[in-house]
Amino acid sequence: MKLPFAESYKIKMVETIRRSTRQERESWIKEAHYNLFNLKSDHVFIDLITDSGTGAMSDKQWAAAMEGDESYAGSRSYYNLEKSIKEITGFNYFLPTHQGRAAENVLFSAIIKAGDILPGNSHFDTTKGHIEFRKAHAIDCTVDVAKDTTAEAPFKGNIDLQKLEDVLKKYPKEKIPCIVLTVTNNTAGGQPVSMENIKGVSVLAKKYDIKVLFDSARFAENAYFIKTREEGYSNKSIVDICQEMFSYANFMTMSSKKDAIVNMGGFLAFKDEEDWQKCQMYTIMFEGYITYGGMSGRDMNALAQGLREGTDFYYLESRINQVAYLGQKLDEYGIPYQRPAGGHAIFVDAKKILTNVPKEQFVAQTLGIELYLEAGVRGVEIGALLADRDPDTRENRYPELELLRLAIPRRVYTNNHMDVIAAALKNVYDRRESITSGYEITKELPIMRHFTIQMKPTK
Ligand code: F0G
Repeated sequence: MKLPFAESYKIKMVETIRRSTRQERESWIKEAHYNLFNLKSDHVFIDLITDSGTGAMSDKQWAAAMEGDESYAGSRSYYNLEKSIKEITGFNYFLPTHQGRAAENVLFSAIIKAGDILPGNSHFDTTKGHIEFRKAHAIDCTVDVAKDTTAEAPFKGNIDLQKLEDVLKKYPKEKIPCIVLTVTNNTAGGQPVSMENIKGVSVLAKKYDIKVLFDSARFAENAYFIKTREEGYSNKSIVDICQEMFSYANFMTMSSKKDAIVNMGGFLAFKDEEDWQKCQMYTIMFEGYITYGGMSGRDMNALAQGLREGTDFYYLESRINQVAYLGQKLDEYGIPYQRPAGGHAIFVDAKKILTNVPKEQFVAQTLGIELYLEAGVRGVEIGALLADRDPDTRENRYPELELLRLAIPRRVYTNNHMDVIAAALKNVYDRRESITSGYEITKELPIMRHFTIQMKPTK
């Protein structure tokens, strides 16, 4: 008999989570102004709001944390981290930051000016926020197939090279500080970018003399998909694939809270000394001295170890298989989601489910609230709330897709939890016809509103 799959780790410490009643959840979500971010975590049974900073650190990471060197300058932990980053990315220069958006803040302070253009593949919301805050523009060049949730394409995170070239042709190079390639493409559904596409971006970047930035939060999951889906890579190690990926970039921003499996941390890394030097001043101003930049020594040590574990094939196999398992369960129930299953999450196609809810009433948010009410499962809206208002017209932007992201924390939940999530969604799916109204906004901030927004039911 063929042995079934099992995780490549065992559990050493557990945390109790509590189930609640529907009645309790109804009052909690009302108190939270129908914003899932406003819920207390104690009021959530299975928390899929993000895979960011929510992973379980290993015994080796905790041991490394104990050996952290808290020296202000030249800490041993900084050099440990430098070694790890070099081994995996090939970049010789780096700056620690407290998380991914802090790395964006430092880099963009150094390279973006008002009126600039940054083409990319579905810029993440903080990335877009940092671009628009500087009165620059993010232009999305993601392949069109990403918008068809039923298409089984292997690399739906790719950039459309024609769309990219059109942008590079249209604007002078002085206006384009870099191309932003997000690996994996979070907003399009945790979908990977192929090595072929990365190479294509690099060819265009060289032709037009533009730099390439990798938003690398989930680079290891991207490498796993290249290894398992792209011809010519099945015999290469994950680290070899990462090295090749990064060889086509000039610099990277990293939210270490994802693929490096730490609860807090980030960094910037650079091919060229000159770019590194340009960013040092902003690191000192916004984050901290250049050898700690917003991180404690123990956190840098845990991160150095986390980067190695996050690029281990067997760990990645367990991780991606769990997300795929949830996808298979949804298949059994006929529930539509962005296919194929993503690296870090399942993106449920809310528009295809709640066909009776008008788009002005926030379809994916409505599905997210229904799922919470059903079972205490908390996902996150990737739809019109996240898309925010147009910075120039202040009109609501309605993206083609309304998705409910169910992000799976790393090494945290078991497949029994996946079964509960799928069953809860099925129950909502079964009564989808009866859900005919959604929510309206009662209070919002001018930028990145979805985190703090307040809403009320339209009926
Ligand atoms: N880039 C990508 C692709 C991300 O997914 C995130 C964060 C960031 C940058 C910013 O990093 O949170 O460390 O400041 N994504 C989280 C999420 C919040 O839930 O997807 P950060």
